[in-house]
Amino acid sequence: MAEYNHETGRLAPPRHIAIIMDGNGRWATKRGLPRTAGHKAGAETFRKIATYCKDIGVKYLTVYAFSTENWKRSETEVAAIMALLKKYLLEAVDTMERDHIRLHFFGDMTPIAPELRALARETDEITEHLSADDFQANVCLNYGGRDEILRAARRFAADCVAGVKKPEELEEAVFSGYLDSRGIPDPELIIRPSGEQRLSNFLLWQCAYAEFYYTDTLWPDFDEKEIDRAIAAYHARDRRFGGVK
Ligand code: IPE
Ligand code: IPE
Ligand code: MG
Repeated sequence: MAEYNHETGRLAPPRHIAIIMDGNGRWATKRGLPRTAGHKAGAETFRKIATYCKDIGVKYLTVYAFSTENWKRSETEVAAIMALLKKYLLEAVDTMERDHIRLHFFGDMTPIAPELRALARETDEITEHLSADDFQANVCLNYGGRDEILRAARRFAADCVAGVKKPEELEEAVFSGYLDSRGIPDPELIIRPSGEQRLSNFLLWQCAYAEFYYTDTLWPDFDEKEIDRAIAAYHARDRRFGGVK
């Protein structure tokens, strides 16, 4: 049973929530707007939801911002998403220390434009100076669950070749330490708005025992009440982890 929080009068929220921020394009199309307008609105929703998660005591919020498959979209759309990320990071550099928000990236940053990569490095450095207890947002950028597992496997293999590791030492906890999410507990709750009920290559390793919550609401329309509903649904679940109660 989740712990009761006397300050908020509610059950403690999950420590780690992950969200597939989906439905921006459909939100815009419904309004006769270009898809990029949906991404702009979605970025605002991210700001709002991150603040809310921090306020209610969630420790980690992981959001799927751009997948390894999203490069298939038009150049204009990809550029618009990257520009919004850049804008967010520029703001974050100025505000994350004040707001006690740690920022971290999951994904392969190599194909990301140097300017955006430099900003991500800058926010990483600021994060290092913040307290480990502060709220942390993990932004998945050029992220794919399979790609993350492959990159981890490659690094482990390289350590074996270098003689630092032995194949027989590979255990779940050891392998987790090679993933982008190293040091971060697995998400207890994964939320996908927009009506789609699939993972789309999100957190494949980490979601082994996550609870899934789906809603038809499109991401730009997602609000604090939706988070409350998802958390309430989570609290009503019977998590058995393969055991018997
Ligand atoms: C999610 O919204 C944002 C990204 C994938 C970058 P979509 O752009 O996928 O919106 P829909 O699914 O087309 O409505
Ligand atoms: C998943 O959404 C990726 C992000 C939200 C960043 P997509 O819209 O790309 O996924 P599919 O194509 O519906 O599976
Ligand atoms: Mg989509």
